[in-house]
Amino acid sequence: STVDWEIDSYDTAGHAHFLVKEIHEQPAAVERTLSGRLDERFATAHLGGLNMDARELRDIRRVKIIGCGSAYYAGQMGAQLIEELARIPADSEPASEFRYRNPVIEADTLYVAVSQSGETYDTLAAVQEVKRKGGRVLGVVNTVGSAIARACDGGIYLHAGPEISVASTKAFTSTVVAFALLALHFGRINDLSPADGRRIVEGLKALPGQIREILEQEKEIAELAAEYANCQGMMFIGRVRGYPVAREGAQKLKEISYVHAEAYPASELKHGPLALISPELPTVALVPDDELLDKNLTTLGEIRARAGRVLAIAHRAPDPKLANHSVLVPRNEPELDPLLLNIPLQLLAYHAAVALERDVDKPRNLAKSVTVE
Ligand code: AGP
Repeated sequence: STVDWEIDSYDTAGHAHFLVKEIHEQPAAVERTLSGRLDERFATAHLGGLNMDARELRDIRRVKIIGCGSAYYAGQMGAQLIEELARIPADSEPASEFRYRNPVIEADTLYVAVSQSGETYDTLAAVQEVKRKGGRVLGVVNTVGSAIARACDGGIYLHAGPEISVASTKAFTSTVVAFALLALHFGRINDLSPADGRRIVEGLKALPGQIREILEQEKEIAELAAEYANCQGMMFIGRVRGYPVAREGAQKLKEISYVHAEAYPASELKHGPLALISPELPTVALVPDDELLDKNLTTLGEIRARAGRVLAIAHRAPDPKLANHSVLVPRNEPELDPLLLNIPLQLLAYHAAVALERDVDKPRNLAKSVTVE
């Protein structure tokens, strides 16, 4: 059966737009994604819909994630979680590229299709390509009974609730949470220690409260957004775990504010895009307090030396010489920090779009789900 989410049967519940309503629904959406799935005793996750037992999962040697747009970026975060927690090689690829390049389908690779709507045509076609060649596909999908969910061999439903606004926010966050559950489950079948499993279980439980804390800074972020919105364009940078966050942040800004944005790995700046840096092109930098902090701070120095403005999203505010402004997020476990670093970027994009008087919920040229080729 399919569930119809009619736009008319929902309202913005006092919020100015569906987008900001959905941003604020994230603590509840994450709670639903986690609900009934954490096993404290064995420090693992239960995922009833995978339709794969431990023995079958142990034989998996690689994970290939496919999706479009934000689903692809959430997949990049998912791939990092799987590599870090389960030590299984994993990567994410745009579904449209995958389906057209005659992909090699391997028996010991697990394919994972990601889609909020479950109806994105390129993603569905990629699933069909894997199945046609005898591969196994799991779906990480929000819409119950959707075409992609039905085409997969099993999967994880997000239970994030209906997402109306064209720009994905709560489904993105819930997707990454679902991948954290999958990585934990996988990890505990492989070599993830009970202590590390417990660390991730506790980290996941802390997420809803920590997202709420970040959302409380909305007023300050709105002021920054209004200040930065009148720029030529914006650069988003991050390293390793921060890089998919930068990509998603740039995508959200482009999509709803029409401000041009580029995302780069911080280390790539000096190989080209540093030439763009000027006071008119500010940089949003993901600066978690992790083993790469010093490297990130050096990059900020390089930007400031070219008179570039820097807005840091960080655990600790960098020296004011290195960042003009900082938005601080609470610390979780390093593997889960990207989820939280992304939340201020949603508010930044939303308030930039509001400041520029854009049609926030229905940006020009875009549809909520792209069901055609
Ligand atoms: C997200 O903000 C975008 N609107 C878009 O990239 C979207 O994530 C993509 O089209 C995939 O949609 P799906 O998750 O419904 O498959």
